[in-house]
Amino acid sequence: MDFPMFHLDWLNDRFLIAVIAILHVFINHGLAVGFIPYITWLEQKGVTNASKDQITDLNWDNLIYKKMKVAFIITTTIGAMTGVGIWFSVALVSPSSIGSLIRVFYWAWFTEWLVFVTEVILILIYFLTWKNSNTSLKAKVRHIKFGWFLSIFSWITMAIIVAILGFMMDPGNWNNEQTLLNGFTNPIYFPQLLFRTPTAMLIGGVFGMLLTTIFTKKGCDIRAKAVKYASKWILVWTPLVIIGAVFYWSVMPSAMKDNMSTAVGSMEFAQYYDLLKYFIIGTASLSVLLALFALMKPKKINFAFVIVPCVLAFGFLGIFERVREFVRKPYVIGNYMYSNLLREEDYPLYKRDGILKHATYTAITEITEENKIEAGRDVFMNLCSRCHTVNPQGVNSITYVFERMYGFGKPLDKNSMAAYIPNMHNGRTYMPPFAGNKKELDALVAYIKQVQQTGESLEGVQTSGVKINPLNSVKSVTEKLEENKDYSED
Ligand code: HEC
Repeated sequence: MDFPMFHLDWLNDRFLIAVIAILHVFINHGLAVGFIPYITWLEQKGVTNASKDQITDLNWDNLIYKKMKVAFIITTTIGAMTGVGIWFSVALVSPSSIGSLIRVFYWAWFTEWLVFVTEVILILIYFLTWKNSNTSLKAKVRHIKFGWFLSIFSWITMAIIVAILGFMMDPGNWNNEQTLLNGFTNPIYFPQLLFRTPTAMLIGGVFGMLLTTIFTKKGCDIRAKAVKYASKWILVWTPLVIIGAVFYWSVMPSAMKDNMSTAVGSMEFAQYYDLLKYFIIGTASLSVLLALFALMKPKKINFAFVIVPCVLAFGFLGIFERVREFVRKPYVIGNYMYSNLLREEDYPLYKRDGILKHATYTAITEITEENKIEAGRDVFMNLCSRCHTVNPQGVNSITYVFERMYGFGKPLDKNSMAAYIPNMHNGRTYMPPFAGNKKELDALVAYIKQVQQTGESLEGVQTSGVKINPLNSVKSVTEKLEENKDYSED
């Protein structure tokens, strides 16, 4: 409403964020937060296990270095780019919500930025000075210390961001007293952090084991040794993943749990909802099985053994992120802003005046028979386009969801749609309540009906350009000021 509406009519706007964000979380959790401490721990083992006359076991050290190289290359390229990419994509798709979050978490984000820059410097030092540090024990010990610092800083960046993610799900008492501290200490924060930390460690360990099978020969001693360490790491963290998951589940508001079935897939997949539970249990038990087997028969472990648990562990994290994004619906920021970017407290105003009068980017504020379709398009853009596409081939397209209810291929009935939309929030609580007035409802219905007939798509401002609300034009604002002047003179 307050920002021009960027829109992808085939991919669906939510998907754009999801794809970039999930890739980022894979890299952040799997290759930084969980992986760096694992690598540092192994580097340290190389020193403690070395014979008296050596600084470290050089073969071992070289293996760990190679693993770190993979993490270094991926985190500093795709990892960093997707991190910035999240900012770009959310600013395009959901500018009002990111604006609100910046206002609340300004200093948290500022701190996070400082920590992040430190993290980047530390990872450069840690990776690039690795080989040189092997010249003296003192240098090696210092190098290992850098590894631990890097681990701590990677974790802190996550710990700050998780506060914001928890806040979006349930701001707790921030809605009564809007302070940073209240936002930070939201009820979902600690449980989510306690879940994410061991999950990152688990994924780091499984991925580490996978790399071992790539960088070493089957049956050799060094592989057996590395595989055993990975197993121990996995066995320590997996129980904490389960405890964290249970804790996290227990604080999730019940309205969110009700959304869970649609969150895992879409409505078509609701019946597979139980899969999520099995996915968590399956991933955890498979990791434990792998670790136990690897402890007993380390020389038997090869790529084929590890790849399935590894893919499952990443898949598990991906599903978790998708669910987290979905269950907070209809809100983008719990009890404060709906996913259509309208604030809950502004709803009475919209109900009274309609949304178009208050929209900054719309060509129409007074709906007539002639401009009805165009007005309907603007209503759709403002109220539905964050989650639905128009193009019949698009993801979650609006004609598809209506036809699914009323029959595929049948002409949509305006009256049924007009009766459904004002109540859609009650039946499908993940959708925000309809914010417009009666005329806007009729315009929206006429637009959807036309879309069904023409199969047209909807262009976002990136193609169509912006149209400014005529009530905000210089002329009408001057007129308004004049009116107010008369009024104050009276
Ligand atoms: C917060 C995101 C969101 C917004 C905003 C939203 N929807 Fe939906 N809508 C969904 C999701 C998700 C589904 C379920 C899709 C699925 O599972 O296939 C859905 C389903 C529907 C359905 C089918 C419901 C059923 O029971 O089968 C209709 C009709 C619908 N939406 C209309 C609208 C209209 C009209 C608007 C705008 C006024 C709108 N939606 C806004 C997310 C949203």
